[in-house]
Amino acid sequence: MKKRNIIIDCDPGIDDIVALSFAIANEDKFNILGITTVAGNQTIDKVTSNALKVMSYYNRNIEIAKGQEKPLLREKSAASNVHGENGMGDYQLPEAKLELSSQNAISFLRDKIMSSEEKVTLVPVGPLTNIALLIKVFPEVMENIELVSIMGGSISGGNRTSCAEFNVWADPEAAKIVFDSKLPLVMSGLNVTHSTGLYKEDVEKLAKSTGKATELCGKMLEYYFKGDHVKEGRFTPIHDACALMYLIYPELFKFRHMKVDVDCSDGISRGNTIADVREWIKYDNTYPKVLVDVDLEKFREILLNDLYKLDEMV
Ligand code: RIB
Ligand code: CA
Repeated sequence: MKKRNIIIDCDPGIDDIVALSFAIANEDKFNILGITTVAGNQTIDKVTSNALKVMSYYNRNIEIAKGQEKPLLREKSAASNVHGENGMGDYQLPEAKLELSSQNAISFLRDKIMSSEEKVTLVPVGPLTNIALLIKVFPEVMENIELVSIMGGSISGGNRTSCAEFNVWADPEAAKIVFDSKLPLVMSGLNVTHSTGLYKEDVEKLAKSTGKATELCGKMLEYYFKGDHVKEGRFTPIHDACALMYLIYPELFKFRHMKVDVDCSDGISRGNTIADVREWIKYDNTYPKVLVDVDLEKFREILLNDLYKLDEMV
């Protein structure tokens, strides 16, 4: 099977790191052209340091470029309560051996996309600040983007607020630019990612593992269970892995093309992704593909299998 060219734009972040681990575990299916970082779960310096540490830990020499330290217009905000002060659930990894790219993420993304012979899939799993700037500053990239598989938004209520999912809430103007761009989008919103994750028993087993990847992911994921945002304390979503899982196993998901508007007001509905869910209104495939259902057990089985597989690869 031909490898898919991807660039992951992330704010690691516990679930971002599990998603990056899943990507490395599937390096036979992905040609990972690079990783870019954006402020979100933690500051740009912390999330960039985390990305460098994880790729060093996995002995993968993948180029990493630092992105925007704050949203287009809004004040920056971290999610220390969810991801810990260091963004990794306070798990400590050795210092990074990898050097950071000398390019900023926006020009890095532009150069990687324009120099690729095959089209590139972008996988943004943090606030969409970098992606919005990319398509505004370098619109020529649009024709060489295969797909944008986003973790963000929701059609069933929020997590950062009752209305808004964190990535879109953090930078709603950036999200609006991306959702209005007519790029081919797949939206993994909370309505499915609240079911794409692992049970507490899975996490406990991972944390006790002697494997490099499984222990890292397990120990970090244990942090989630200290919070009050996991389902009845038994199941934790791993939101960001969904945006990558879709690319390999689209058959696990149901979807509908819908118009999606982003609320850029300052009130309670800031960052709300208002999707037209009316069944009788048919949107063609130039509108975002919104995932509406997932095979939870199959997702969990594949994710666990690939994390244990990664232990033998790093
Ligand atoms: O709302 C979940 C999203 O916000 C995930 O990407 C998580 O990493 C945080 O960035
Ligand atoms: Ca993220």
